[in-house]
Amino acid sequence: MSKALISTFSGTLIAWHQLDGRQGLPWQGVRDPYAVWVSEIMLQQTQVATVLERYPRFMKRFPTVKKLAAAPVDDVLAEWAGLGYYSRARNLHVCAKQVVEQFSGIYPSDPLLLEQLKGIGRSTAGAIAAFAFHVRTPILDANVKRILARLFGIEEAIGEKKVSDRLWSLAQDLLPLNPKDMPIYTQALMDFGATWCTSRKPVCLSGVQKCPFSKECQANLSNQVLSIPRKAVKAKSPEFDCDMLLMRYQDLVLLQKRSDKAIWGGLWSLPESAWRAKTDGEMGTPNLTPKELLQLTLPEEHLPLLLKHCKAVSCGDRIKHVFTHRRLWMKIWHVNALTAIEFPNTNLRWVSLRQLGQYGLPQPIKVLLLGLSLVRDGELKN
Ligand code: ADE
Repeated sequence: MSKALISTFSGTLIAWHQLDGRQGLPWQGVRDPYAVWVSEIMLQQTQVATVLERYPRFMKRFPTVKKLAAAPVDDVLAEWAGLGYYSRARNLHVCAKQVVEQFSGIYPSDPLLLEQLKGIGRSTAGAIAAFAFHVRTPILDANVKRILARLFGIEEAIGEKKVSDRLWSLAQDLLPLNPKDMPIYTQALMDFGATWCTSRKPVCLSGVQKCPFSKECQANLSNQVLSIPRKAVKAKSPEFDCDMLLMRYQDLVLLQKRSDKAIWGGLWSLPESAWRAKTDGEMGTPNLTPKELLQLTLPEEHLPLLLKHCKAVSCGDRIKHVFTHRRLWMKIWHVNALTAIEFPNTNLRWVSLRQLGQYGLPQPIKVLLLGLSLVRDGELKN
């Protein structure tokens, strides 16, 4: 490993940031650990452009960790709707409670303590400690792994523990000596990975030789920029299908609160059948009778009553949703009910289409239901 590179890296990167890094983002220059933490969690799997829109809204709704901890989790999920990866929102709420209960509402500055909190991994703990408390501690998200693997010509798959340990150790060695530089350095590292040392179109391959590390970067020197970092071979994500019940009575639609442990945990969705692993050929159930459909999607004890009150059943669209680790086809069955039958002591609830905004809904279900609220009785509302 080059000693010269280790001693110059942080200074070169900070100088790069002053000219070419992202400036003026609302969470930059912020030292309130609560605000830093919210922005880091939101930025984890969401584009900066989306976070720019949603972060100020979230902070207005929950301006302090105490307010967030005291809010019902449904309010947090509803505010998070559309951002995806809802376990982040549930963890955010649990973490806020931990900070209030275990640390009297004051975030610890030690990354090892931050890492004990719900939803905060080692890299996010490093980012919070660096941004809010100027602690000399590294981050190592996917972008930083890519930068370091290229810079040091690491050819092994980066998912391996041994490689990950080496990257953490390099990330530690590269830190600026002055703790005051930690926020700008950390931001610069994130920005460099997100905008210049990108996975498919890094600037070094754009024909313009402007990367400040081009003379030291081992991947660049050996023409391996696009093949480093090497990822472990991933199997294709499995495909599932399920039937979903879109039961309506006048302006009401029947929603079901999902269990916390399920995908889209804690959100409100349509009652659905168990997921079936898709095999080749025709997907989903063929034409279902009303009885079969209700049996698949609703609690058994309500069936006799429901069958009496269920008018027409028709098969609607099939919607595909891609998760990180699986793909789901949802077959939507439309059912008109004769009355809004009550379901006491269940997680089922009739909700007016006008009040959907108050519920945290999975994105594809939200799109489907918002489409319905624009169309009533086959006519477009204006
Ligand atoms: N991704 C994660 N944290 C970030 C930050 N602070 N700025 C930009 N992108 C990020």
